[in-house]
Amino acid sequence: MRVDFWQKTGNPQMQLIETLVRSIDARLPDAATLAEAAAILRRGGLVAFPTETVYGLGANARDANAVTTLFAAKGRPSANPLIVHVSDIAMARDLTKYWSDLADRLVQRFWPGPLTIVLPRNEKVPDIVTAGGPTVGLRMPAHPVALGLIRAAGLPVAAPSANRSGEISPTQAVHVLRSLGGRIGMILDAGPTTVGLESTVIDLTSAPPRILRPGHITRAELEALIGPVEIAIETTEKVQRSPGNIGRHYAPRTRAELIPQDLLETRINELTGEGCRVGCLVCGAPSKVHSCEMLVELSCDPVDYAAGMYAALHDLDAAGLDRILIVAPPQSEDWLAVYDRLRRAVSE
Ligand code: TXA
Ligand code: MG
Repeated sequence: MRVDFWQKTGNPQMQLIETLVRSIDARLPDAATLAEAAAILRRGGLVAFPTETVYGLGANARDANAVTTLFAAKGRPSANPLIVHVSDIAMARDLTKYWSDLADRLVQRFWPGPLTIVLPRNEKVPDIVTAGGPTVGLRMPAHPVALGLIRAAGLPVAAPSANRSGEISPTQAVHVLRSLGGRIGMILDAGPTTVGLESTVIDLTSAPPRILRPGHITRAELEALIGPVEIAIETTEKVQRSPGNIGRHYAPRTRAELIPQDLLETRINELTGEGCRVGCLVCGAPSKVHSCEMLVELSCDPVDYAAGMYAALHDLDAAGLDRILIVAPPQSEDWLAVYDRLRRAVSE
């Protein structure tokens, strides 16, 4: 297995490598399998692993070459910084220039869990991890496999979602394999992730703190703990504070549209009339039996919807359709994270 092939050769063609897929128990991960994956990370390779949110693609965050390989495997623009995953608070503090009171309160309450905090970084974090910026995103994931892997490697692990840049995030090992098979050393398969939506990213370097990416942990939960928090996702700022936030992202390859429930039937008929094969993603049982080729129903509860959303989009995208119609969820704040991802999935 040549996990270090690109970094050794700088081979722009990205020679394919063998991707090992290892099943691992989500609650009691096998130590030998974790050790095998940790060894790949320590020698500069890439390992995809489950977190409670989505599968991540890990590389040693202290090793600039390993992180370069990671950017290449994803085809990720180098201006988009990575989240560094840690197995305890001390490992996170060790990478920061300042650790604030606010940070303490947030991590005591929400770590391990789906919250990424952005703080000033120190020289232990290579430039490539933060896209050259002065801050670093830090997160302690709440998944025994993720925590076990970071502990076994004894390293902070830089990990974006384990998909090629711009594509739908993976919530199952098979999604990772389809997107990155042949480009990474190993996938740890512990079954579907539970949260289903990437972590909430909060920037603690501004006052008040700002949510750069909405997620499972809501503004209300954050505010209850630390007071006023801004939401900065509709960013038209010249300086991109969180580049993953802008434009098309999390997108299926099939063209997709977000439409109100009451226009669904008409739109299906229009498209079918043009000879299109149409798939629909709806919330709750639809009031009429829709004449679309493939119908996926998700719960009308935002947390449950989020848990199934990416798998639904992957399934629809794999079905060879011409168009995916997604019924727009409510625009209330409890749907913010879901709505944000869907909006990006359909943007041209
Ligand atoms: O749930 C998650 O966060 C998953 C799992 C694997 O942990 N990871 C994930 O990583 O979603 P990624 O790379 O797909 O998204 C990271 C987001 C991007 O929007 C990026 O711009 C932002 O976090 N980010 C990372 N570091 C940052 C920083 N220093 N300042 C501002 N934004 C940052
Ligand atoms: Mg991503």
